[in-house]
Formats: sequence, C-alpha cells, structure tokens
Amino acid sequence: MNSVRPESMERITTRELALKFIEEQVAEVRSQVGNKKVLLALSGGVDSSVVAALLIKAIGKQLVCVHVNHGLMRKGESEAVIDMFRGELDANLIYVDATDRFLNLLAGVSEPEKKRKIIGAEFINVFADEARKLEGVSFLAQGTIYPDILESIKAAEGKKAVKSHHNVGGLPEDLKFELVEPIKLLFKDEVRVVGEALGLPHAMVYRQPFPGPGLGVRCLGAITRDRLNALREADAILRDEFDKNGLAEKVWQYFIAVPDIKSVGVKDESRYEGWPAIIRAVNTKDAMTATIEEIPYEILHKITYRITHEVEGINRVLLDLTPKPIGTIEWE
Ligand code: XMP
Repeated sequence: MNSVRPESMERITTRELALKFIEEQVAEVRSQVGNKKVLLALSGGVDSSVVAALLIKAIGKQLVCVHVNHGLMRKGESEAVIDMFRGELDANLIYVDATDRFLNLLAGVSEPEKKRKIIGAEFINVFADEARKLEGVSFLAQGTIYPDILESIKAAEGKKAVKSHHNVGGLPEDLKFELVEPIKLLFKDEVRVVGEALGLPHAMVYRQPFPGPGLGVRCLGAITRDRLNALREADAILRDEFDKNGLAEKVWQYFIAVPDIKSVGVKDESRYEGWPAIIRAVNTKDAMTATIEEIPYEILHKITYRITHEVEGINRVLLDLTPKPIGTIEWE
C-alpha cells in the first residue's frame, strides 16, 4: 500500500464505509501474508487494538499479539486487554509482565527525557526477546496511522519537537520483518469508526489518549513503587468519577500526576505526611494547544474526598488550571 493518501480516498464516516474498508483490508492482508505468522505489539491503545481486531478477522491465529506490561499501565488496563483479546476474540496473545525490568532500570532516574528513552529502549528489548522466542514469524504489524506519517515527514524536515515521543520502532538488526500497516492511511476518527464496525467496545475505541511511557511521566521525578501505586489508585478514582458524572465524554484527556514532594497533613489526630495528587483535565483538537475544562465543584469535592480517604500516601488534591501553552498537557 502506498504511504500517501490519495485525494480521491473517501473519508470513512459510516459503518457501511468502514465495513467496505475492512473487507478490502482483509483481502489485502491475506494476499500479503499468505500462511505466514504476523507479530503485533498490542498496547491496548486504539490503533493497536483496531489493527489486532482487523488482523484476527483476516488471519486468525496466524497473528501473534504481544502485550508488554511495563508496570506503568493504568489500573485494570492489562487485564482489560487480556479479557478482550484472549477472552472475547480468542486471539493468540502473549502477556509479558515486565514490571520489574522497567522499574529497576528507572530507579533513581528523574530527568523526563531520560525516563522516556529508558522506557522506549526497554520496550524494544522486551518485545525483541519475545520475538526471538517465536518461530516462523515473517511480518510485523503496526498501528501506524496517517498523522504518524505526516509527523515523520515533518520530523524529516527538521521541525523541532518539544518532547521526544516513545513508540515501537527500531527493532534490532537480527529481527527483520516485513511491515503490515493496514490503517496507515486513516485519520483517528476513521480508525474509531472502523474499530466499532469490527465489534470493539465503544469505551475501547473512544478511550482517551494515553502516552507510550504511561504513568512513568505522571509519577514525576524518580519513580518509586509506593508513589506509582498511589498515582494508579488516585487516577482510577478520577476516571471512575468522570465516567459516573458524564465528564468522560466531554473532556479529551484527564489524569492525575503525583510529584515527589510531601506536605504535612493530619489523619486520626496524628501528623500524616503525604504526596499531593494533581488533577489535569484538558480539551484540545490536536494536542498542540489545550484549554481547561470546567469541572463542577461538587464533583471536585467528591474526587478529593475519595482520593484522600481511599489512597494510601495522598493527603492533598490540587487542580491544574494551566492551558497549553504555557503548560504542556503532561507534566513531564
Ligand atoms: P504534551 O505533554 O507534549 O502532550 O503537551 C501532548 C500529547 O502527547 C501525549 N504524550 C505522549 N505520547 N509518548 C506518547 O505516545 C510520549 O512520550 C508522550 N508524551 C506526551 C500526551 O499524553 C498528550 O496527549
């Protein structure tokens, strides 16, 4: 498939158009890979999930999905990937819990770009280790989408990025695969329509963006397991309350960041030192600029109460009101 979207290509806006696209891609993938095996890093994000569902439809168990849990996933996320793909879609899915590998390497590292590089490089190492254990794999599927292609053209033209972005890519020399990129000409909204037409749940297809380095760039500074756990629990409460109160559909990205500072609090009439949980909830079209969504005070009070009462180690909740620019969306 060409890497330039033809002007004549119709925008996929309906289920009918999505079904037609799926049918064409199923035929194309089958003719590209024959009876060979295809490997896919399945993070559970929208793009890799849609590629997985499409390839399962096209080639079934010839697709080998590898889900690497880097220990920086949100609460329940890896379990949801396993339930959906192994449970519902009967996928050939290898689950790798690499938490210790990642957290040991990250111990004591506080510089954000260094953290990103470690996470990105270790991701490739873990994935490559799994790939080497498999036999007869000739293809690597990727959830590349059209904005990624446009991004790399910009990068090649030398435009400066504010942060380095970590994604899969750059496998070692001994692992040479031919690429399968069935959604590379699609924009994100089209990927979602195709995902729903493939039968993926709405929540998975419309889930908010989650950065490759995961909670690693939200557990600010040097990551420790106790602070990472507190962040994960606090984030789960925020997501739960946003879901229950209809904010999940209105806010583009929302999460908790936990800095490496402690303040004094009081619990059960004793001094209680804890970290603050910072709420960030932004709206944006393209992540280049972002505005702040107003969250009703009643909901903020509820979230604050729950986080400070349910999460070990957190004794304050703060709200970040900074637009982008001047802030970036993530804190690191
Ligand atoms: P910033 O913080 O740069 O974020 O305003 C813009 C969008 O990009 C996401 N983000 C990342 N995504 N790898 C990713 O895959 C990264 O290293 C990374 N850093 C930021 C961020 O969540 C937001 O949606």
